[in-house]
Amino acid sequence: MARVNQILENADYLSYMEKIEDLEKGRPYCKHGFDHGLSVARIAYAYLLERGELTLSKEGVYAAALLHDIGRWVEYQTGEDHAEVSARLALPLLEESNFSSEDIPVILTGIREHRRHHDGNLTLLGEALAIADDCSRDCRHCAMQTHCHKFKPEMKLIVY
Ligand SMILES: [Fe+2]
Ligand SMILES: [Fe+2]
Repeated sequence: MARVNQILENADYLSYMEKIEDLEKGRPYCKHGFDHGLSVARIAYAYLLERGELTLSKEGVYAAALLHDIGRWVEYQTGEDHAEVSARLALPLLEESNFSSEDIPVILTGIREHRRHHDGNLTLLGEALAIADDCSRDCRHCAMQTHCHKFKPEMKLIVY
């Protein structure tokens, strides 16, 4: 996982994560730190393995998941959709970490698609990230569920 570790040590990546942590201080809802990215990575990878359709390397899946929310701080400041911002900020990080010119567009598309759960026309990676994003949160035991637009009472445990 050398290329993924390179992303995690990248000064820009670290500064984005720091900005998110700062801006989410006092946020009563789910936060978007490293632990969220890692959960999404593990679930998305398991989902893709189960589907038996893994076309991207494990490193590519982990990179996509760890970068899918890095634009959150921009959304907090400007209102711009963080999926788009995250893809934009991810590009130089992926290039600097030596991901290939074949893998980079797949990863960026997956990041762009991670909020479009119900579009029905997602790439496999976009679908995996969208599902993993939801499954990474324990909404059924969350104290904020009555205030959260994401919570639906019919939510069942989906195991990945
Ligand atoms: Fe997101
Ligand atoms: Fe997320």
